[in-house]
Amino acid sequence: MPLFQPANLDTPVLQQFSLKGKIAIVTGGSRGIGLQLVWGLAEAGADVAFIYRTHQDADATAAQIAQKTGVRVQAFKSDVTKRDLLLKTIDEIVADFGRGRLDVVIANAGVCSNVSSLDYSEESWAHINSVNYDGVMWTAQGAEKYFRKQGKGNLIITASVSATLVNTPQMQAAYNASKAAALQLGRSLAVEWVDFARVNCVSPGYVHTEMLTRQPKKLLDQWISQIPGGRVCNPKELKSAYVFLASDACPYMTGANMIIDGGFTIP
Ligand SMILES: NC(=O)c1ccc[n+]([C@@H]2O[C@H](COP(=O)([O-])OP(=O)(O)OC[C@H]3O[C@@H](n4cnc5c(N)ncnc54)[C@H](OP(=O)(O)O)[C@@H]3O)[C@@H](O)[C@H]2O)c1
Repeated sequence: MPLFQPANLDTPVLQQFSLKGKIAIVTGGSRGIGLQLVWGLAEAGADVAFIYRTHQDADATAAQIAQKTGVRVQAFKSDVTKRDLLLKTIDEIVADFGRGRLDVVIANAGVCSNVSSLDYSEESWAHINSVNYDGVMWTAQGAEKYFRKQGKGNLIITASVSATLVNTPQMQAAYNASKAAALQLGRSLAVEWVDFARVNCVSPGYVHTEMLTRQPKKLLDQWISQIPGGRVCNPKELKSAYVFLASDACPYMTGANMIIDGGFTIP
């Protein structure tokens, strides 16, 4: 089957961006970039379930977004590194929250740490990869059967500019390699799933979240000097790109990697 094409290509463009009535899942939706993606999808009309692992206020966060946007938003505790648990969580979300439907899945959960290559243990190496790479695959597996049954679905992966460049001066080989793997996984799934789903990646540059604020201040100053845009990204500046990818506004876009980095990867 060829790639899905909307029945009416003359739908006015802003209407094409609407996610009204769609069911979406965001992993790592409790804070940082993922939290803004939950806001963005909800503001565009989707009912949003988000998956988190440790966050204390996830239910209150979900309730606040639901109250402000008028759609359903619910938090689900799970772990993207645990395949069986994650598949069960996604099944529960689709059955109860989605009433049998699943339209959009954003594999966004991620972790990063600065480790020099010789210092990786089996555990620290595996941890980064199990969240950033394996976790994307288990999330994709959870979505696939629903997308395939519906004949239409949409997977978006939060990769990183680290998938294609090596950030300096910090040492984060596992993070960079895991993001490169996630990017190539997304491209592979885009081809494999072309009959029934689109798969795209978003690769942000430096974004002001806990992933960044945990780092020493002097690193932040160095990074800013490397970014032509002269500043890091507010996570709120990313949500519109994900809404675009999640919507019917770009039906011919699959296997793409949308880089949003203030020009960081250009020089
Ligand atoms: N910040 C940046 O500069 C930047 C740049 C490029 C790409 N990215 C990518 O963007 C994504 C989000 O990053 P962020 O900056 O928003 O990070 P963050 O603020 O540290 O948030 C990480 C999110 O991932 C969730 N998470 C972590 N491990 C998990 C697991 N095993 N199972 C389920 N959820 C898990 C966390 O849940 P809890 O709250 O429950 O712990 C949290 O919601 C990541 O994939 C990251 O690599 C970030």
